[in-house]
Amino acid sequence: MAILRRANQRLLRRFPGGNRYYLAGSKTGSRMLHVGDIRWAPGSSMPCHIHPEPKAEESQLMLEGELELTYEGQTYTMRPGDVALAPPGTPHAWVNKSGKMARMITVFPMNDPSTKDVEPPPIKNGPQPRGVVFKKDMKLFEFQPGIMRYDLVTEAQGAKSTFFSMLFFEPGSKAPTHYHPATEEAQFIVKGELTAVYGNEVTVCRTGDLYLAEPGLRHGFTNKSDQQAVLLAIHPTARVERVLVDDTDLPY
Ligand SMILES: [Fe+2]
Ligand SMILES: [Fe+2]
Repeated sequence: MAILRRANQRLLRRFPGGNRYYLAGSKTGSRMLHVGDIRWAPGSSMPCHIHPEPKAEESQLMLEGELELTYEGQTYTMRPGDVALAPPGTPHAWVNKSGKMARMITVFPMNDPSTKDVEPPPIKNGPQPRGVVFKKDMKLFEFQPGIMRYDLVTEAQGAKSTFFSMLFFEPGSKAPTHYHPATEEAQFIVKGELTAVYGNEVTVCRTGDLYLAEPGLRHGFTNKSDQQAVLLAIHPTARVERVLVDDTDLPY
């Protein structure tokens, strides 16, 4: 099963002071996605770089702490819930000046993007790029009864092949069982516990687990716990095709 439990994920050095849980990519059998969970020690930094492949648009979601982002010559302080989308070839740099640990989820709609260091572009003043979105400017809406959702990265931010959202499942809530005919979906449990349909099986996913649904695989989540659960849903396409299916054959 393509569910990678936190205990089986590899935490590897990505850059000095930066360690990454490798959640999805070619090494986990994903053909369409790369997902990482990066911990930034105080003082750590990722110098100005690009991801050159034509499909390598990078979505970066802050989960904990505070990082400084330099993006096309402008600098922003990024906090939990804030998102930056770097289209392919867009220079970006990150540094942790906060004195505390920080944490970020990074997503690409391809499985093995490369990273190339580049000279930082000149500092400039200008309007906020549409790829930088602060949590305070996002709309939380009801997706299903008991499930609230933020859409973090969509075509509105300039995404060409990413759809990335965050869902809050209250106890008892259920996301309808469905599949995506042509694309994978990575689903990461940020917090809590969800009971999941995986094809013809039912399993429980917990904090830190990564669930990869292959194209055509039936999947869905129900919160059978008594606590809120938080899920990231990550698609390697900006326009998600979703086919609802029956799940009454399952003990679910
Ligand atoms: Fe990057
Ligand atoms: Fe899905």
